[in-house]
Amino acid sequence: MAPIVPPFPMARLRRMRGHAGLRALARENTLSVDDLIWPVFLREGDSLVEPVASMPGVNRLSLDRVVGAAAEAADLGIPAICLFPYTDPAHKTAGCEEAWNPENLTNRAIRAIRDQRIEIAVMTDIALDPYNIHGHDGIVVDGQIINDASVAALVKMALAQAEAGADILGPSDMMDGRIGAMRAALEEAGHKNVAILSYAAKYASAFYGPFRDAVGASGALKGDKKTYQMDPANSDEALRCVARDLGEGADMVMVKPGMPYLDICRRVKDTFGAPTYAYQVSGEYAMIKAAAANGWIDGEKAMWESLLAFKRAGCDGILTYFAPDVARGLKAG
Ligand code: PBG
Repeated sequence: MAPIVPPFPMARLRRMRGHAGLRALARENTLSVDDLIWPVFLREGDSLVEPVASMPGVNRLSLDRVVGAAAEAADLGIPAICLFPYTDPAHKTAGCEEAWNPENLTNRAIRAIRDQRIEIAVMTDIALDPYNIHGHDGIVVDGQIINDASVAALVKMALAQAEAGADILGPSDMMDGRIGAMRAALEEAGHKNVAILSYAAKYASAFYGPFRDAVGASGALKGDKKTYQMDPANSDEALRCVARDLGEGADMVMVKPGMPYLDICRRVKDTFGAPTYAYQVSGEYAMIKAAAANGWIDGEKAMWESLLAFKRAGCDGILTYFAPDVARGLKAG
């Protein structure tokens, strides 16, 4: 549909911008608390709130604190929380066995939130990097990331999380065939209603830097993730990844990072019409915070503008470290 615009002065597009009321009437997109998934970092210990240096305002929380944070998020109306563990280097192995330990940090956190009957969906991350002495998302043998052995490990990890009570599993590993393998294993184990939000179009990005510090994976990682994460030059390939993952049983799909990949969000939404999410990743958050701390941008305004952009690009929701700030802002009106 081509827009009808009569010639000037019949058309004065500024007319609709002249007053807050007119702007409100003409507004095409809005950000709501329903759009938010809040990523949270876990750590061992008691009553600990440990700041992440490269992500001002973000902390690693001990289990008791995570339960409190989940309750607060639920009170604010945030629909889902996503858990990421900082793993003690002593628990990292080449086989990544800690990933499917029913008593690992993530699984204990899921149960703790469930036990308190907090009304929030619990999402998890499925990838081996927090547990891997090599820092990679898959099993490494002779310097190679082995696809099928990694999928077998990821399936065990998924089942342990589903068993602990996770509502949404978030495979972020980019191995081939993992969605189908997980979906089949979940069905077989009776976890028929556990949702999968596939990190379907995940790019090999420089914007994950602060996250890798937050989960303690930076030190372990040698090299890069280019043999499994996507080339930032590619767009059609993202559609193939999403088609494949939806076809294998993903309920929702994600594009990651967010702001540099808004074109991909729009293409994915337009092509498939499936529930589509973007991850506003750690580097995007850190850039806004750092520029604001220097007085170079208004951090509050940049936060709102950056998140509204995802709605405009067709996303149904956003994983963002700003989630509690946004929810509080929306509540205050
Ligand atoms: C690990 C994972 C990463 C992120 C989420 N899950 C990092 C990576 O792939 O190296 C990044 C999130 C962020 O930067 O905020 N599988």
